[in-house]
Amino acid sequence: MTDTPQPLGPPQRILMGPGPSDTHPQVLSALGASTVGHLDPYFLKIMNEVQSMLRQVFQTKNELTLAVSGTGSAGMETCVVNLIEPGDKMIVCVNGVFGGRMADVAERAGAEVVKLERPFGEVFSSAEIEAAVKEHSPKVLGIVHAETSTGALQPLEEISRIVHANGGLILVDCVTSLGGLPVKVDEWQLDAVYSGTQKCLSCPPGLAPVTFSPRAVEAIDKRTRKVQSWYLDLTMVRNYWSDSSRAYHHTAPINMNYGLHEALRLVLVEGLENRFARHRRNHEALKAGLAALGIRYAVADEVALPMLNAAQIPDGVDDAAVRSQLLNEFGIEIGAGLGPMKGKTWRIGLMGEASTPRNVLLFLAALENCLATQGLELTPGAGVAAAGAYYRG
Ligand SMILES: Cc1ncc(COP(=O)(O)O)c(C=O)c1O
Repeated sequence: MTDTPQPLGPPQRILMGPGPSDTHPQVLSALGASTVGHLDPYFLKIMNEVQSMLRQVFQTKNELTLAVSGTGSAGMETCVVNLIEPGDKMIVCVNGVFGGRMADVAERAGAEVVKLERPFGEVFSSAEIEAAVKEHSPKVLGIVHAETSTGALQPLEEISRIVHANGGLILVDCVTSLGGLPVKVDEWQLDAVYSGTQKCLSCPPGLAPVTFSPRAVEAIDKRTRKVQSWYLDLTMVRNYWSDSSRAYHHTAPINMNYGLHEALRLVLVEGLENRFARHRRNHEALKAGLAALGIRYAVADEVALPMLNAAQIPDGVDDAAVRSQLLNEFGIEIGAGLGPMKGKTWRIGLMGEASTPRNVLLFLAALENCLATQGLELTPGAGVAAAGAYYRG
């Protein structure tokens, strides 16, 4: 007979990696509220409120706005499989891991994929997108707004204009940007946008907010074949999320939706602009602190994400040893580099609840300690002092 495991007792961590981020205590409480039936009038009210708050956070009036039952990748798959029919042409912009994943998902959905590639850490210019769109005339162009694998921010507005001028749709990954940076779905005329709960919304992983423009809905309605995935088929899922045509599709994860409801409420109570400013401020303070420790960013300043700081690991420093010392001695999680950035960068998240002066100062002090363990000679307290000076203005 095997022994029954001990009850859960996860360690207290400070989540400063690429996600998940720290969860607000009110969100944790919401997750533990009484489960009701998924067609209970109370839950239907929660679904309506989640949709309405998602519209505010996405800055859209899009009717088709909901939380897909699944993580960010399910959001990606939902956008792709509903817009793509086998043989459709899709340009996928790949400058990191998640653009690469989108291309894989599109290929599996039967798209004729044209990959537009840029080295990790760089972003796409409007001119190269325009040339590719003119050459290939895709039905859909897919692009990542905030590449979590590299820390680079892709401007979208001009690209969206170019794609539309050529009669295409723009599909955008906002998993890491939503709630930490402006995602102006209507103003930028984005057609299919997905996100995840565990980054700047500071809810545990489990749901994928999505929104579709009227143009995208028209493309879905014009399909000649069924959506390849039963679970993610919006022609059915949208009825489940609609007050006027409510019909059972699957059993929504009730308590996850409670959690998202509270997380979105907290975002709106703080105010979008305040939240964006907070992310920016803590990023600038961290950058000042890292610079004082002689650590530079792996991406250019103009495109550096505020919520995901890709920092170059100083020469001679053992990447894994520092990350495990941070975790084991200080309870701080940061992320390793991915792809060509593996072993060369650390990914330091300042997402949602984790984007605080407390975390910035604590992290800089802890990192300095770890670097000293590695034998680096630093001016004691330089990182904390520089970040503190930034905060004091
Ligand atoms: C930009 C981006 N897209 C997609 C995903 C996939 O989301 P998930 O891991 O929640 O499925 C992530 C997760 O880190 C991400 O950062």
